[in-house]
Amino acid sequence: MNVVLGISGGIAAYKAPDLVRRLRERGADVQIVTTASAEEFVTSTALQAVSGRPIRSNLWDKEAEAAMSHIELARWADVVLIAPATAEVMARIVSGGAPDLLTTICLATEAPIALAPAMNHVMWSNQATQANRDVLEKRGIHILGPGIGSQACGETGAGRMLEPDAIAAAVFSLTGAQIDGLLKGRKVVITAGPTREAIDPVRYITNRSSGKMGYAIASAAAAQGADVVLISGPVNLAEPPGIEVIKVESAQQMYEATHNVIRDADIFIAAAAVADYRPASVVAQKIKKKDEAMRLELVRCPDILASVAALPTAPFTVGFAAETDKVIEYARGKLEKKKLDLIIANRVGDNCGFDRDDNTATALWQNGEQSFPTCSKSDLARELIELVAQHFYAVRSADT
Ligand code: CTP
Repeated sequence: MNVVLGISGGIAAYKAPDLVRRLRERGADVQIVTTASAEEFVTSTALQAVSGRPIRSNLWDKEAEAAMSHIELARWADVVLIAPATAEVMARIVSGGAPDLLTTICLATEAPIALAPAMNHVMWSNQATQANRDVLEKRGIHILGPGIGSQACGETGAGRMLEPDAIAAAVFSLTGAQIDGLLKGRKVVITAGPTREAIDPVRYITNRSSGKMGYAIASAAAAQGADVVLISGPVNLAEPPGIEVIKVESAQQMYEATHNVIRDADIFIAAAAVADYRPASVVAQKIKKKDEAMRLELVRCPDILASVAALPTAPFTVGFAAETDKVIEYARGKLEKKKLDLIIANRVGDNCGFDRDDNTATALWQNGEQSFPTCSKSDLARELIELVAQHFYAVRSADT
């Protein structure tokens, strides 16, 4: 697949070399086209080194145009991806002008165009930017993200560029190109996030899970060519593009959604922090305070992971064990008790685990284990998916 990767001038441009690598490792040829301001954030030396092609930026570069003109470049592209796409570049595309090479290619191409916006959250929610997004979407341009989270400016909100892995996977899925990855053609079902167990119409029991690890695993699996179904509890995260997301609230709904899609799954990864107990009954009206103390009767929720592992034709089943102490011992106990193929153990509590962007983990299986040092959840997800794929094929070949 030929990708023209436009890079415009936002701080997220520092992620562009990683994005190029993610596209190339899936078999894409990448021609980079930068805007003048992109070069303030990322050097053309770095981009040339990772893409293996000279960078294009100037519409009036006679030598480059002689080798491949901007029209030939527009025809060469199977997809034009702009990441990061600033508010300015979005506005320029909306206007239909062609003041530079990148916008000229956007006008001259018949290939699908995808933008991964990245900007300060106030700029993103500005009426002008939202109106531009609307126009672009109506013209059939794909808008990937943006994600929600901490921003380079120190604020938090919607406007973060999606992770390179998620962008690369989305680009392949929107062009229908098959990713030649480790999980090509495999169906992977993943649960993520917390559940909410209703007490009355306004109150519920939940936990601190952000869903970030499960979402990162879903993107990493899609990046390896898997057909991913992500069953998500309530989270404040952008839906990973190109992935089927089923939204649920309670443990019971997550259980039902999982069993609706699990039949032909090859791999099941339970990354959700499912409530173990829910109120025995949901009170129809808001509970009024009366006595100094009150009791809430709780009953067990169904164990989704154990129920999948117990299926007669169970998929390769992976659980998570989030523990505050005796991490490995408890995780190994769960591996055996729930009859899992693999379990990922991680420490949670003060300054680790939940609602953070990094994580540390140890993967355990029947007669082995592997530890992963602290790294970003997306890097960890990538490594975990490689390990899961390796064990999945080992089990399958032992079965046949
Ligand atoms: N899990 C599940 N359904 C539940 C509870 C947990 O699918 N009702 C899954 C989680 O997604 C995770 C693993 O099981 O993969 C966690 O195991 P569990 O024993 O439930 O962990 P805790 O809830 O932390 O239990 P404990 O109190 O025994 O530590």
